[in-house]
Amino acid sequence: MERTLSIIKPDAVAKGVIGKILDRFESNGLTIAATKKLQLSRKEAETFYAVHSERPFFNDLVDFMISGPVVVSVLTGEDAMKKNRDLMGATNPKEAAAGTIRADFAENIDANAVHGSDSLENAAVEIAFFFAEKEIS
Ligand code: CMP
Repeated sequence: MERTLSIIKPDAVAKGVIGKILDRFESNGLTIAATKKLQLSRKEAETFYAVHSERPFFNDLVDFMISGPVVVSVLTGEDAMKKNRDLMGATNPKEAAAGTIRADFAENIDANAVHGSDSLENAAVEIAFFFAEKEIS
């Protein structure tokens, strides 16, 4: 049993597809072990994405992630980290396979609907960033 972190980004929240995206997870064998909607501060977004701080897209990424509320969730299940990434599709929605979340709901590489942890190590760090252990069940 694995855990991974999902973020439904401001573009997808604004579009009103929170329920449709969460349904993709549950319909594909993942359990929503914790979830909440929140507004990130600039400092929080910069800290969460610190690994990208030297990349040219960092400022745009932070601006976008604080442009509206997000929904953060802990997903659990067998192979949860890879399963979530398969359901999300490629980072650039133009390259995302048909039927994936990004192909169906994302506009471009910045407004790409969802984030998912890219390793189990990062998943543990990202989950702890948003949730206390007693909130996860
Ligand atoms: P995410 O999985 O949230 O991780 C970092 C985000 O940076 C990524 O999704 C994209 O939304 C955004 N981004 C913008 N440009 C790029 C790029 N060239 N390569 C990777 N990520 C990018």
